[in-house]
Amino acid sequence: MSEIRVDISDAIAELPVAEYQEKINAIHEQLHSGQNGYTGWVEYPTKVEGDLVWQIMTTAWKIQKQCTAFVVIGVGGSYLGAKACLELLQSPFYNEFFAKERNLPKIYFAGHHLSSVYYHELFHRLRKEEVAVCVISRSGATLEPMVVFEMFKNFMKERYGDEASERIYVVTGSKGKLREEAEQEGYTTFDVPDDIVGRFSVLTPVGLLPIAVAGIDLESVLQGARQAQAATANPDLNTNDCYRYALTRYLLKVQQDKRMEVFEVYDGKLRYFTEWMKQLFGESECQNGQGIFPVSMQMSTDLHSLGQFLQEGRQDFFETAVIIEDVTYDIMLPEGITDHAKTLHQMNRLVRESVKEAHLENGTPNIVITLPEISAYSFGKMVYFFEKACAVSCMLSDLDPFVQPGVERYKEKLQELLKNDTMQTAEIE
Ligand code: PA5
Repeated sequence: MSEIRVDISDAIAELPVAEYQEKINAIHEQLHSGQNGYTGWVEYPTKVEGDLVWQIMTTAWKIQKQCTAFVVIGVGGSYLGAKACLELLQSPFYNEFFAKERNLPKIYFAGHHLSSVYYHELFHRLRKEEVAVCVISRSGATLEPMVVFEMFKNFMKERYGDEASERIYVVTGSKGKLREEAEQEGYTTFDVPDDIVGRFSVLTPVGLLPIAVAGIDLESVLQGARQAQAATANPDLNTNDCYRYALTRYLLKVQQDKRMEVFEVYDGKLRYFTEWMKQLFGESECQNGQGIFPVSMQMSTDLHSLGQFLQEGRQDFFETAVIIEDVTYDIMLPEGITDHAKTLHQMNRLVRESVKEAHLENGTPNIVITLPEISAYSFGKMVYFFEKACAVSCMLSDLDPFVQPGVERYKEKLQELLKNDTMQTAEIE
């Protein structure tokens, strides 16, 4: 099966391979040697045990039979990967029609915000459904998902009484309050490996359980990740496209002072994948006043808004287009529109070409990452590819990709506010 292709020819004249190969080798060695305590994801696709995958699959089958609505509670790395996968691989009308047609539960995400209107309507909607809930939190202490989980526990207890615990699933780290509670209450529990942080955890039970409940083939996802693991096993910059991409974005930053990366997609199915990419790069790389600010745009929608900025705004960004080569379904265009595109997909490609040409007139660096097709296999490959590209990019800037002190700061502030009773009352009033 074909690989992810990276074209950097419109971004950088020539990659200084000889100059950077040694540093890249050292980074590669660091990632693979496991010296950093959070590199468990690097060899996870080949090391994950068949028993675990089987347990996830059998649990998913149980959930599929048990409920008509499955609520996945989590935020950041504990939510975005699964959401990205479902958006990419499921019908765009999954909850409306597809789930019922295939006898699969509808899937609702929660815990990634605290909109009272959303939860009010969600609980209302769930009254007519058979419900199961899965809370995903590595720390078991993040406020938003924990607050939402408390609300759901009440809902489930009112609804199912003592049997509620049969319908509650937990994915969490080896320690913490959520782990203790899960053990006490007898919830079915999966582990977040201690050596993998949230945004690098899609291919662990964090992402795999909701993905399996949605009926997506886990073995294909993992097979794709294994292929990407093999494709990046040799650090040679002449052949390793993932590392070439990482080095290109690093050089655009240090040589051309490009401070933003615009992830551009031409298919709405990739929208949440770019949300996950924003989280992956933004949370890993932006530290100590450094980093490339990740932005995502979905075309053609954003061509008619932020496209103006790309063409005529401050030119301190580069573009990374993620393109799908073959679509699952294409549609013939009615006769007479143009001789240059016979199908809708071909027309979409023409839009993409026109954008590229227009922006190249400005000299905007343009990286193109081409995926062969939309599939579970491609999803696994892409996840691994971008995780590794992100880690290597960060390490080229001597940053630790597996910490997020900025995110932790707001969590600490929130805990301080919660301890301060006066502030709580004032806020609520
Ligand atoms: O990537 C990360 O580490 C973060 O985005 C976390 O996933 C996010 O803050 C949620 O944390 P937790 O899973 O501990 O609830």
